[in-house]
Amino acid sequence: MGGAADRWRELQSGRGIPEHIRRAAPADPWTHRAADFAPAAEPVDTPSRAAARALAERAAARSCAGVSVLDVGCGGGDAAFAAALPDPSPVARVVGVDRQADMLAVFAAAARERGIPYGTVHGTWPDVADDAGRHDVVLCHHVLHNVVDLPPFLAALHAAVRGGAGGVVIEMLPEHPMAWLDPLWARFHDLHRPPSATADDAVAVLREELGVDPEVRRWTRDRRLPHDAAWVTRRLCLPASRTAEVDAALRDVPPRRTDVVTLAWSP
Ligand SMILES: C[S@@+](CC[C@H](N)C(=O)[O-])C[C@H]1O[C@@H](n2cnc3c(N)ncnc32)[C@H](O)[C@@H]1O
Repeated sequence: MGGAADRWRELQSGRGIPEHIRRAAPADPWTHRAADFAPAAEPVDTPSRAAARALAERAAARSCAGVSVLDVGCGGGDAAFAAALPDPSPVARVVGVDRQADMLAVFAAAARERGIPYGTVHGTWPDVADDAGRHDVVLCHHVLHNVVDLPPFLAALHAAVRGGAGGVVIEMLPEHPMAWLDPLWARFHDLHRPPSATADDAVAVLREELGVDPEVRRWTRDRRLPHDAAWVTRRLCLPASRTAEVDAALRDVPPRRTDVVTLAWSP
């Protein structure tokens, strides 16, 4: 493993929650609520969507057939459905992979509502890459900061692209999505976190491990996940009785960043 992958691993490992804090937590601080990831009713135009759509159109033109889209860490499928809609669309099928079964239920319901043929694969990427198969376009939005061992994760995304004109689109925040709460970890737990791994660190791993030089687009969006005091209290492993204290402390913390990075490449 090279220096960039080592750096990613070290920075990501530093964001764990110490066992004594986690054991005392009244609720799981990590698990996402599936309801928070329902896909947008109307796909939002973003650089990630444009990149996915362009790859899908190119693959469809090459094969003269509808293309398939794989969405890794799909949540409710926001990325896949944005690429697939509106009609007429080059996308004929979407497949979602997620380690949370309740996310896949949201994904499947959304595909049925939209009348899009779909499949789901329950499990952890890259362990389930063989079950997911190969596709024209592979999407992975807001998952990389969950990963410690990045090279096999990225290699499996790259290998999941079927030969032809498709490719991979990754969307991520410039730093760990919870990095904005670091001052509160220090304040409530005396836990001083190392700096976050960044999107630039991920690009360095791509270059080092796969020889891939992705197209990089930086842009901004509205804040999506909840960030109210009750939600932050759970994330900080604190009981609900401390929500008012967290609410007051949040006033001293710069708001969550809204910049986003899109990485896209064709194998
Ligand atoms: C922050 S959510 C993003 C969901 C969706 N991609 C979006 O942008 O709305 C991250 C999702 O990735 C899933 N996930 C994280 N690591 C994963 C892995 N290694 N394999 C499969 N799913 C994973 C989580 O269960 C969660 O549903």
